[in-house]
Amino acid sequence: MSEKKLVFSGVQPTGNLHLGNYLGALKNFVSLQKDSKCIYCVVDLHAITVLQNPNSLKENTLETTACFLASGINPDKSIIFNQSAVSGHTELAWIFNCISKIGWLNRMTQFKDKAGSDKEKANVGLYVYPNLMAADILLYRSTHVPVGSDQTQHLELSRDIAQKFNNDFKCGNFFPLPEPLIQKNISRVMSLRDGTKKMSKSEESDYSRINLKDSAEEIVKKIKKAKTDSAPIPGSEKELDGRPEALNLLNIYRDVTGNTFSNVLNEMSGKEFSYVKTKISEALIDQICPIGKKIKELMEDKAFLKNVLKKGAEKAQLQAEENLKKVRDIIGLI
Ligand code: TYM
Repeated sequence: MSEKKLVFSGVQPTGNLHLGNYLGALKNFVSLQKDSKCIYCVVDLHAITVLQNPNSLKENTLETTACFLASGINPDKSIIFNQSAVSGHTELAWIFNCISKIGWLNRMTQFKDKAGSDKEKANVGLYVYPNLMAADILLYRSTHVPVGSDQTQHLELSRDIAQKFNNDFKCGNFFPLPEPLIQKNISRVMSLRDGTKKMSKSEESDYSRINLKDSAEEIVKKIKKAKTDSAPIPGSEKELDGRPEALNLLNIYRDVTGNTFSNVLNEMSGKEFSYVKTKISEALIDQICPIGKKIKELMEDKAFLKNVLKKGAEKAQLQAEENLKKVRDIIGLI
């Protein structure tokens, strides 16, 4: 019998989970539960690489947990917990700080984007963020990591760290080289205001994204205002070259309806954007509004959410400690 995948992924509790998080990551988290052991983490220690309001961080940690559950992650099947509740993440991150190279971290485009023009003023946590991410994954010796394509470079670094650890300490394949699992159809949902930028929590305009908690009216309003161009929808994918906003809207429609791109083009070819937008809004309302409703209901029972995290952390802790014991022995810590 082939060995089961061990799946790990994380989401930052920085509020406002959106359609990009859902289509790029959460939807995949849910389907992987069918035949894999899965660990899903609310990565609160990653969130504090940017100054957080403590009360908002607590609230957002619970809300991200609610988003996991409302999307269909089952806490009886998968482990759901918050990162700071299992101290092994930071212990292994320190060990990886001593394995990873400054040259590797200097190549990370996300650090360059987030640190902005004055890197001297960026905090060290933001710089070593990818080492902590490698520790998250490898603490459980995970084999597969479902993420959006914006995380590809971080995943490559995790593989480099795993490989270097295995080589430095001559411990065979102790750490697996984790494989990214990236959605084929829509690996990156783009902003509704600019089809060349990814949909993001940190984008200033709320009109750039569909949030999982948006009401039907908000969805209709945002899709109505979404940037488009003046040409009608073409009959082939090739003709969408240079039309990033049109491509993004059709990609969203394809993914939300579970259709193929050629069927979407057959349905939409020659149509005006007003028609297309009405169809997209309907599909989004169907899929996203029930999740938003569930998130709000779950947020009414914070004790329940805290208990889900607590039980998940207990299970994660057992696995983490078993692996950390081996790591300590391999590197010579008594
Ligand atoms: P985060 O919190 O920014 O995003 C969570 C997940 O959502 C995906 N995503 C998108 N996918 C498609 N289109 C978009 N516009 C879009 N925006 C976000 C992200 O790719 C991600 O999968 N560094 C990670 C969190 C993390 C992690 C980990 C992930 C920490 N440790 C270990 C995997 C494994 C992050 O900031 O994701």
